[in-house]
Amino acid sequence: MVLDILQIGDPVLREKCSPVKKFDKELWKLLDDMKETLKKAEGAGLAAPQVGVPLRAVAVDVEEGYFELINPIFVWQKGEQSGPEGCLSVRGKVGDVIRPSKVKVIFQDRNGDKYSLVARDFFARAVCHELDHLDGVLYTDKAQRLRDSED
Ligand code: CO
Repeated sequence: MVLDILQIGDPVLREKCSPVKKFDKELWKLLDDMKETLKKAEGAGLAAPQVGVPLRAVAVDVEEGYFELINPIFVWQKGEQSGPEGCLSVRGKVGDVIRPSKVKVIFQDRNGDKYSLVARDFFARAVCHELDHLDGVLYTDKAQRLRDSED
């Protein structure tokens, strides 16, 4: 099911999200719906609070693949990159954000199994952007030169 994506100004986007504790059918349904919603919106990532659920779960859809990160935590962040960023919750805008160029995160999958991954470049940017959502942070809080996007 394609879900509505909350827009900036909605208080759920500013919540500190709670850890996922139950890896049950309800979570799987949420993750399936997030995937459908993200694919339809053609975005690079979507966090559960963006669909009104303040839980620590995000999806990232990048060249490297489609990732579901549950209860993600940074192990380290290295380097620096600056580049344009947008958000499905901030329609029609883009802004430049400084992010680490390489990050390592530990996370759980939809079954609760533990993994880690290293992300670089745009993948790292997407991971950082989505993890910020889990703490109620939007890229507009960090962006320079926030402007109207061309599309
Ligand atoms: Co976003």
